[in-house]
Amino acid sequence: TERTLVLVKPDGVARKLVGEVVSRIERKGLGLVALDLRTVDRELAAQHYAEHDGKPFFEELLSFITSGPVLAAVVEGPRAIAAWRQIAGGTDPVEKATPGSIRGDLALETGSNLVHGSDSPESADREIKLWFPNL
Ligand code: GTP
Ligand code: MG
Repeated sequence: TERTLVLVKPDGVARKLVGEVVSRIERKGLGLVALDLRTVDRELAAQHYAEHDGKPFFEELLSFITSGPVLAAVVEGPRAIAAWRQIAGGTDPVEKATPGSIRGDLALETGSNLVHGSDSPESADREIKLWFPNL
């Protein structure tokens, strides 16, 4: 079994898609280990997105992710990292995310693509420690 960090970003919470996202996780057969609705500060946001530091959209990314509450979740199951990324869909909701995925069905823009998921076991480990240090 494997764990991954899932976020419903501020656009998803504002659009009342938390239930939709949790439902898709559960229907896939993945398990919820932790769930927390919170507003993140700039420091956590910058650590979370450290790999994008220096990119042209970095500031936009930080102001977006800190703009309102997010749902943070630890999700578990066999191949949970890849399974969740399949449910979420590709980064660009129009060019990459396929119909049937969360982004493919429900999002239009890369900058507001509703959800996040860890991209590797190393990222998952780092991100789960960052968001849920007591887990
Ligand atoms: P996450 O699960 O959110 O990490 O998405 P990802 O792994 O599919 O994408 P990546 O890690 O490459 O980028 C992180 C986030 O930055 C994306 O989900 C987008 O919200 C945002 N992002 C990536 N590329 C761009 C871009 O070119 N412009 C803007 N505005 N945002 C971007
Ligand atoms: Mg990523």
